[in-house]
Amino acid sequence: MRAVVQHGTGGPEVLNLEDRPEPTRKAGEVLIRVEAIAVPFYETQLRAGLIPAGSEPAIFGHEAAGTIVEADDPAAVGRKAVVMSFTGGAYAELVVASRYTLVPEAISAEHAVAAAVPASMAVVLLRTANVVEGESVLVEAASGAIGGYLARLAKDRGARVIATAGAGKPVPDADEVLDHNDPDWRQEVPEGIDVLFESIGGPRAAELTTKLVPRGRILAYGLLSGEFPTYSVAALAARGLALIGFGGLDAYAEDVAAARAEALGLVADGTLNPVLDRTYPLADVAAAHARVQSREGVGKVVLIP
Ligand SMILES: NC(=O)c1ccc[n+]([C@@H]2O[C@H](COP(=O)([O-])OP(=O)(O)OC[C@H]3O[C@@H](n4cnc5c(N)ncnc54)[C@H](OP(=O)(O)O)[C@@H]3O)[C@@H](O)[C@H]2O)c1
Repeated sequence: MRAVVQHGTGGPEVLNLEDRPEPTRKAGEVLIRVEAIAVPFYETQLRAGLIPAGSEPAIFGHEAAGTIVEADDPAAVGRKAVVMSFTGGAYAELVVASRYTLVPEAISAEHAVAAAVPASMAVVLLRTANVVEGESVLVEAASGAIGGYLARLAKDRGARVIATAGAGKPVPDADEVLDHNDPDWRQEVPEGIDVLFESIGGPRAAELTTKLVPRGRILAYGLLSGEFPTYSVAALAARGLALIGFGGLDAYAEDVAAARAEALGLVADGTLNPVLDRTYPLADVAAAHARVQSREGVGKVVLIP
């Protein structure tokens, strides 16, 4: 089969399309013929070596959707499914997985893969933050997938949504949008934030603690700047702030995986609308990564094997 293999860290050119042996399914696993692969921003950081990878995978990629072609349960064969693999393997024509989520028939493989991981993250983040009607939330990078879904779900709960995005990028569910490419954007954030969904990180992230209300909550789940945020206990203690960190392979990983079906249900009923930027054939993987890294588009870049 054709698959994308990473050779070292660096620019998009370290990703090569190659012939690889087809994976074989063990009992308990399904074999999926891949129809769509997501290219989230964090994969460009992993590829470049800007954020640590557990190990260099034989086949790159984490998020794929397609049709089950082999399974223990014959009723599963022919169904559409989405998978998330922390150990790679998604940029390929076939994947095996022990954990997968069935996709409602009305959702295309492209939309399913664009939404499954970020929407399930948003569902768990919002639930963990326990946002209630009338609260003010700050959603960083709401031009991205998780941030966009967070803005929508927070709005549905009756919150006031302050969001950040690259200049001119739409955040339909925000009451106010700040340009996070302005280095001083944090100074423009209004005071009185109840919940901060922190995904940019970096050395200036802690400036936002003064914008939160006493006993405000910070959910830190990303490092789009390349670094997690750092907070002093003194800064948190000054307002009695609660800080919860999400790292991917952490105590919340099971909750996020378990929320996948709920997230796809929210797509199926129209609550969440996956936005696609461009699709590329798998052979054009370097162009797809360059597109994501350029931050010129709006929505998910998807590879088609
Ligand atoms: N903890 C977990 O379990 C977990 C799971 C999945 C993802 N994540 C993290 O969640 C974050 C968001 O992921 P996503 O899938 O929503 O992203 P995405 O859909 O790929 O979108 C990328 C977003 O990142 C923004 N961005 C990129 N570089 C930036 C920078 N230097 N400063 C500010 N914004 C920047 C872009 O903004 P513009 O282009 O508009 O400027 C865009 O909004 C990532 O850090 C990812 O690693 C965490």
